Amino acid sequence: MKFFKKVFKPIAIACLVLSPALSFAGAGEGQELYDAYCQICHGGLGEGQPMGKPLTDRNAEKLSDNDLVAVITNGRSGTGMSAWGSSLKEAEILDVAGYVRILQGGTGLSLGEGNIAQSNDPMALAGEQVFNGSAGCISCHSYRDSGGSVGPALDGLGTRLDQEQLLQSLLNPSSVIVSGYEAKIVEQNDGTVVSGRFRNDSELAVQIQSADGARWVTYFKDRVKSIKDSDESLMPDVYANLGAADQENLRAFLQSL
Ligand code: HEC
Ligand code: HEC
Repeated sequence: MKFFKKVFKPIAIACLVLSPALSFAGAGEGQELYDAYCQICHGGLGEGQPMGKPLTDRNAEKLSDNDLVAVITNGRSGTGMSAWGSSLKEAEILDVAGYVRILQGGTGLSLGEGNIAQSNDPMALAGEQVFNGSAGCISCHSYRDSGGSVGPALDGLGTRLDQEQLLQSLLNPSSVIVSGYEAKIVEQNDGTVVSGRFRNDSELAVQIQSADGARWVTYFKDRVKSIKDSDESLMPDVYANLGAADQENLRAFLQSL
């Protein structure tokens, strides 16, 4: 990512000048461009089509941001993947690449520099260690542009929730489920049940983010027994099992965001 930032900084700056409201290139017109030019070969959800491969498989997810942008710009010679650099502007390529990352369950390409002030409070700093370490919150939540995407980004949490609401969301996550982070439960034909963050729906398929957040899995509606909404939060009961000092520090950290 460091390398990417270095190489693409000029482009990122160009992007920001064009549309000052964007904090990452995944926003913008990525989806429109994707639907217009890419979906015919890669599928509306990136699930793949006869003329193109899936963009949500391991290979495509493993591409660095840098390589992803390069493939779209230069194409792959000898395959149906043409060089879009000749027909799309640089900013459009970044938008569409950002949208591919979103289809893969990411938050777009991170081109922002992250200029949010950090807390110096020793409790908040200790809490940050718990968040990133033993409590494992970072695997599902991001702040300042890094972390997982199964749960909401926690930037600005301190201004969004008061102390009581914060405690409630930690102790009893299912009491209020943040909109857009609902779960679906899929029962497969062999009886296996999978649940995960609901990401996308089409006429034929539903997409669910895997529990580790790493991929979006597509389930074809006519190939599973049932697909239901879940009223349970995907957030596990980690907070209640932490020691009192860790809990207190963690709350101080969350309130500093
Ligand atoms: C005419 C069909 C077609 C269109 C349209 C198309 N692609 Fe592709 N794309 C392919 C094929 C085929 C491959 C596989 C190339 C190979 O074998 O390496 C591919 C590969 C890719 C890869 C690399 C995936 C990997 O796992 O390495 C990315 C990323 C990609 N396409 C993105 C896009 C985007 C974004 C668009 C729209 C701007 C687009 N493609 C439009 C056919 C297409
Ligand atoms: C397995 C994934 C996962 C882990 C691990 C996880 N969470 Fe969550 N969290 C979620 C999901 C999904 C939601 C949104 C659904 C909901 O509201 O319960 C959420 C919601 C929240 C909210 C409410 C956010 C808001 O905007 O209202 C807070 C605060 C929170 N989590 C904090 C934490 C903390 C602190 C930890 C570590 C102790 C943690 N989470 C661990 C998945 C997770």
